[in-house]
Amino acid sequence: MLASKRILLIIGGGIAAYKSLELIRRLQDRGASVTPVLTRAGEEFVTPLSVSGLAGQKLYRDLFDLGDEAEMGHIQLSRSADLIVVAPATADLMGKMAAGLADDLASTLLLATDTPVLIAPAMNVRMWQHAATRRNHAQLLSDGIRCVGPNDGSMACGEFGPGRMAEPMEIIAAIEKALADGPLKGKRILVTSGPTHEPIDPVRYIANRSSGAQGTAVARALAGLGAEVVFVTGPAEVPPPQGVKVVRVETALQMAEAVQSALPVDAGVFAAAVADWRMAQASDRKLKKSRDGLPVLEFAENPDILAAVSQMTEGRPELVVGFAAETNDVLANATAKRARKACDWIVANDVSPETGIMGGSENAVVLIRGDGVETWPRMGKDAVAQQLAQRIAAALAK
Ligand code: CTP
Repeated sequence: MLASKRILLIIGGGIAAYKSLELIRRLQDRGASVTPVLTRAGEEFVTPLSVSGLAGQKLYRDLFDLGDEAEMGHIQLSRSADLIVVAPATADLMGKMAAGLADDLASTLLLATDTPVLIAPAMNVRMWQHAATRRNHAQLLSDGIRCVGPNDGSMACGEFGPGRMAEPMEIIAAIEKALADGPLKGKRILVTSGPTHEPIDPVRYIANRSSGAQGTAVARALAGLGAEVVFVTGPAEVPPPQGVKVVRVETALQMAEAVQSALPVDAGVFAAAVADWRMAQASDRKLKKSRDGLPVLEFAENPDILAAVSQMTEGRPELVVGFAAETNDVLANATAKRARKACDWIVANDVSPETGIMGGSENAVVLIRGDGVETWPRMGKDAVAQQLAQRIAAALAK
């Protein structure tokens, strides 16, 4: 999603500056390149060497560096990025930005640019709540500047309240959103994910080995391409992605209901491993061992959520994508499943225990469409998700 994106990262002077080092790493992990700018105050908190070493790029520090001006003027520096991120954005930097001051490299870059800007404020709670900062913040938002955080929490100064800089992963999500002027902008997409838990009694349930990793990756990739994602998730092991609307459910019946309320959508991706059966009558008391023998569990069939959406006669999503978890005859079973459920595409995978796919980090899938079959090499679930999101974007663009 952030592959080949260029981020100009302005690190202001605050104790949260150390988190910007992690932010650089995380951005690079996602394929972005980071050009760092360290303010004078920022240098009091992180060293120029650690910033430039991590970024693997020249660090820009001082406005009146003749070498820099000859190599790359500040105007060009500010405009060659896809996004300018100010993290931490101090009260002072926000004030300068709001007032249009330009007395150092960072503020000059910010004034000289037409590149979108995202700020991650960090300051003492009283400073954040001060009328001047409130005014500056409101001004920046109305100037079209994006903002992530600050969060509530205990602060380095010992006080508690809003002022902690957003965590690096939250900033990444905000960056992805800011850059998500992608091909799915304006499209609303539903993704189901994770297992469902079907209660037997108040303490026991039927479940499966789905971790929710693939569905989460799909939702993240779709959001990264600009889609508005409604993410309906069972009790998954992995946390939901940022920047999507999360609807948590536990049972198949709840998932079916949440899916109905999320409609209409342009596309639906049904990655959840929904339990096929639930207890016909879950006990409201814990089942006890008894001398009369073993309990007999009577099952009832759960609604098939994917089939119900695929077979809607009115308001059916333009594209419905199902997943097929198979342990044998993957292609034949999945092809039959596509026809039986009437979805447009099926992403089929072999979940036999020896593949390590269910609950693992990789996936090897076959994409079955009406017009043919594509076999993808084994790759990370994120890569599968990105490829699938690209295909979905192409299909919805037609
Ligand atoms: N699915 C669903 N609701 C169900 C069961 C499955 O929406 N009650 C969806 C899954 O999210 C997935 C697809 O249907 O996209 C196929 O799931 P899978 O478990 O492979 O298939 P089943 O319907 O259970 O079919 P079978 O029992 O034949 O494997």
